[in-house]
Formats: sequence, structure tokens, C-alpha cells
Amino acid sequence: MKIKVAPSILAGDFAKMGETVEKLERCGADLIHCDVMDGNFVPPITFGAQMVKAIRPHTTLRLDCHLMVLHPEEQIEDFAAAGADLISVHAEACDALPLLERIRSLGVKACVAVNPETPVEKLFPCAEAADMLLIMSVRPGWGGQKFLSGSLKKIETLRNFCVKNGFADKPIEVDGGIGEENVREVIGAGADVIVAGSAVFRSPDMAATIAKLRGAR
Ligand code: DX5
Ligand code: ZN
Repeated sequence: MKIKVAPSILAGDFAKMGETVEKLERCGADLIHCDVMDGNFVPPITFGAQMVKAIRPHTTLRLDCHLMVLHPEEQIEDFAAAGADLISVHAEACDALPLLERIRSLGVKACVAVNPETPVEKLFPCAEAADMLLIMSVRPGWGGQKFLSGSLKKIETLRNFCVKNGFADKPIEVDGGIGEENVREVIGAGADVIVAGSAVFRSPDMAATIAKLRGAR
């Protein structure tokens, strides 16, 4: 499986988001991960569809919009219009399965996410229909947290489920606490889309870090 790296702009400078995504593209990122937080589903507030619209002209990379919001169904049209290429909704925040079709009907890839305390089995009914599945490996809401090791088992369980059910290549994204020191385990467990905020933005050499995160197998 080809590994993709999705740096999270949550860890970037919010006053310079245009330049930030341009730099990430130059440094070899595969996707731009946009962490949308509403102050309800998670305590912090970050940004919404307007930010996605603002950065859209600055990159040709796909914008991977992770909606940590209640009632994502009320926002998907705005994100699609803003230029999102992929929208992730949380299984804890909505009835995800019917929403996937609605997202895809807007020409956007649809993904379902689960929090650390949510059993991975909650993704099973959506697994075939979704374009990607997202396992949170930290409590959503903040960058810079420690990777929760229990996530590895969830990744393995989900990859096995996908293999057994005839969609072995389903992209599995893992988000939170990933860096050069643990990415090998995350990929080994079956993940192929790696979100990294702090590891990329705190690096003195973003391009090298992105390459290492991708090539760590
Ligand atoms: C957490 C976000 C993650 C997080 C990743 O709610 O969804 O994308 O910012 O940041 P690091 O890599 O610093 O854990
Ligand atoms: Zn995220």
C-alpha cells in the first residue's frame, strides 16, 4: 500500500495559512488535513469552511477536512462549495451512513471517524460505503498529545475486517500523536494515511520529516 502523509494545519501559523499550505506542498505532503472544531463536539474552536475556501487557491493538494463538529450534516454543502476534496464526519456526532451518500453526491469523498473511546466496530457498517476510515489516536480537540497505544489494535481489527470483506485496499487514516518514533508501528498495524501536526511543524526540516513519515516502512 502506498503511504500518504497528511500534515495538519492545526499546528501551523493561523495568520499565514496560504503560505503554510504552499510550503507543505513544496515539502512533499500528499494531502492537507484541516481540523475543524466547533466548541461543542470538542471544546476548542478552530475554523470552518471559510478557511478552506481561503486556502483553496494556494494548493493543488487535496483538502482533507476533519469535521469535529456536532450536526456535520448542516455543513457539508458549505465545505463542498469551499473546495473540500474529502470530508470526515464523526460516528459520535451523526448518523454517518446516510450522510456518506450525500457527501459523495456533492462530488466529495466521504470518510467516517471514531474517537479513542468508541469501539472500532462502530465503523463496520460504514466501511464498504466510505472512501476512507479514520481512527483517532488521541482525544480530539488538541494537537501535541501522546499517541494512545490502544489505537494499534483498533487499526489491526479494522484492516482485518476490510481484508475479510473484500475491500482490502480501503484507506485507513490515523490521526494524533504520530511522529518518526512510532509511525512504523502505525503503518505496520495497517494504516496508510498518516496525519501529523506537531511532528511536521516542529521539525527543522519539514520535507525530510514528511519523507521519513512516508518511507518509514
Ligand atoms: C486532533 C486533531 C489532529 C491533531 C494532530 O483533534 O484531529 O489532527 O491536531 O496533531 P498531532 O500530530 O500534533 O497530534
Ligand atoms: Zn484531525
